[in-house]
Amino acid sequence: MNRSYNFSAGPAALPVEALEAARDELLNFEGSGMSIMEQSHRGANYDRVHHEAIELLTELLAVPETHQVLLLQGGATQQFATVPMNFLPEGGQAAYLVTGAWGEKAFKEAQVVAAGRGARAVLANPGGETGDFTSLPEQVEGLEGAAYLHVTSNETIHGVQYDSLYGSRYPDCGALPLVCDMSSDFLWQPTDLSRFDLVYAGAQKNIGPSGVVVVILRKDWMAAGNSSIPNIFRYSAHGAKNSLLNTPPTFSIYMVRNVLRLLKSGGGLAAAKARNEAKAARLYGVIEAHSDFYHCPVRQQDRSAMNVVWRLPNEALEQRLVEEAGSRGMSGLKGHRSVGGIRASIYNAVPLDWVEALAEFLEDFASKHSG
Ligand SMILES: Cc1ncc(COP(=O)(O)O)c(C=O)c1O
Repeated sequence: MNRSYNFSAGPAALPVEALEAARDELLNFEGSGMSIMEQSHRGANYDRVHHEAIELLTELLAVPETHQVLLLQGGATQQFATVPMNFLPEGGQAAYLVTGAWGEKAFKEAQVVAAGRGARAVLANPGGETGDFTSLPEQVEGLEGAAYLHVTSNETIHGVQYDSLYGSRYPDCGALPLVCDMSSDFLWQPTDLSRFDLVYAGAQKNIGPSGVVVVILRKDWMAAGNSSIPNIFRYSAHGAKNSLLNTPPTFSIYMVRNVLRLLKSGGGLAAAKARNEAKAARLYGVIEAHSDFYHCPVRQQDRSAMNVVWRLPNEALEQRLVEEAGSRGMSGLKGHRSVGGIRASIYNAVPLDWVEALAEFLEDFASKHSG
């Protein structure tokens, strides 16, 4: 089998065992004579898959009793709108910490919702919008009277991460409800969810294919959400039906379940963290060892263990690197079009030996082209 060394930012590599499990039962799920995606979402087979996915998430993350796990559609982008629709009151205010392109999109979407209800979305890091997003702010402001603070744990394009291996920590927002977009680092390490009132994550980076977004939120906050919006956008409506308000993305949830089973049997989130730590150390190690040729623009303490971004002396060399890597079976290394450069996404499913192959290639490339 000729699988690519896939360093794509998302949709991203999936564990091969999760794909093999799906292949093996694609035509006949557990003796039912049909695939899981051809079955009723109200039937016993899908019901088991659905609940197992939720139970595995609850177990792996030690989700506290105070919180509920939801499996929704619409991607993380829909959450940019759904969060303020539910929790930004008429005439109220919500604070947004913008630390990269995704936080900025969330902020802009909140401004649209706010405008429709005489409310405001404000920046918790003034000037953040115009920054180059190479470091995370240490101070937050504009929180007085806010209904919540929204943060992005890992900025997929800019490669900055809160709660990183290198020291960055979430700013203190006191008792203010904290909402976090964890799309690109969900389940990468053990995470204390009691600090968050709501987290959301599109699946297609760390935990499965696109089509499903995990939302974990505090039950009492969910119950207090705006009830004058359509049901399909109300967290409490989905919560009351255990994410079976309407037909869920059954195949995506099934794949998520397969990935979560592997995460559990592989030692859970502590073991995942150790694996991710080793991969990030290897890659940043090469970049630092060749600092006359490679340059990571992100401040040391804020560097992401999921999306490693760096530059070469010029764009022609960057393009050459991507091409040569491609000829060695490595894909997805081109930086996002808005920032250029190189990006290696080394999510949970990317094994250390892929990173080792990339690191060796980078060493080789640097010695050939530097000086
Ligand atoms: C941090 C972050 N938030 C949100 C999104 C948007 O996700 P979706 O395309 O599922 O709406 C992405 C996608 O790359 C992301 O990386």
